[in-house]
Amino acid sequence: MRNLRIAVAGATGNIGALTVAALERAGHDVVRISRSLGVDLATGDGLAAALAGVDAVVDVTNIPAADRDEAVALFGAATRNLLAAEARARVRHHVLLSIIGVQRMELNAHYAGKREQERLVSEGSVPWTIVPAAQFHDFAAMITGWTEQDGVATLPPLLVQPVAPGDVADVLAEIAAGEPLGRYRDVAGPEPQDLVDMARRTNDARGRAVRLVPTWSSVFDTTAAGNALLPGPDARLAPTTFDAWLATQS
Ligand SMILES: NC(=O)c1ccc[n+]([C@@H]2O[C@H](COP(=O)([O-])OP(=O)(O)OC[C@H]3O[C@@H](n4cnc5c(N)ncnc54)[C@H](OP(=O)(O)O)[C@@H]3O)[C@@H](O)[C@H]2O)c1
Repeated sequence: MRNLRIAVAGATGNIGALTVAALERAGHDVVRISRSLGVDLATGDGLAAALAGVDAVVDVTNIPAADRDEAVALFGAATRNLLAAEARARVRHHVLLSIIGVQRMELNAHYAGKREQERLVSEGSVPWTIVPAAQFHDFAAMITGWTEQDGVATLPPLLVQPVAPGDVADVLAEIAAGEPLGRYRDVAGPEPQDLVDMARRTNDARGRAVRLVPTWSSVFDTTAAGNALLPGPDARLAPTTFDAWLATQS
């Protein structure tokens, strides 16, 4: 495979650092984009210089927002600035990491922001691939951290098919080096899990005592119930199990 110059927006993040590593292992020349590295998608500062000579961009940024309107505004502004700079730099492939089920989840703020990203990318002029991924193996721990107060955390009893961030990074690196594919297959882990059970097992592995309260009045409502977050029948299933990840958490 030809070596390419590939930019990773969100390069210092959880999935971004792993994507940089996967691209470098494959021999590509990687450009790192994040505010701490002097490039801000919200303002566009530093983007033109960062994208000079770049063949493909992988967007794995994350933008916290207080509500749906703010998520749409912030993800929208960052995505517009990035796509406009890519068009000027004649970038040939934009790869967006998204989430399985974003079209089905009405109320969640982050998902509204991801929907806006998907809309702008799919209606934009830069050839694209959108990769809908399942929740990562540390998702239950992340939600516990958001809601935990005085040793009690509220969690939605979601069905998910969690995937290892390293496996997602490998898929993103492979796709970024290829031709634009439009909407890619769902990318998930090998087995479905119940989020409350994942949280309990993660806390046990980490030696943390947290009382877990299942509820749909937390960060997800019942539009996320049933199979809403599970991968479709033609999903690409990554190999690393939740148990294998748990074994690294003690
Ligand atoms: N967690 C899950 O289960 C899951 C599942 C599927 C998909 N995803 C998606 O994965 C993506 C990445 O998540 P993550 O956990 O890896 O995020 P993260 O660890 O919070 O990293 C976010 C990255 O974005 C950069 N960033 C934020 N605002 C920026 C800006 N204005 N300009 C340039 N860079 C900016 C951050 O760097 P600076 O702070 O230095 O700017 C950082 O490198 C998200 O879009 C999420 O929707 C997550």
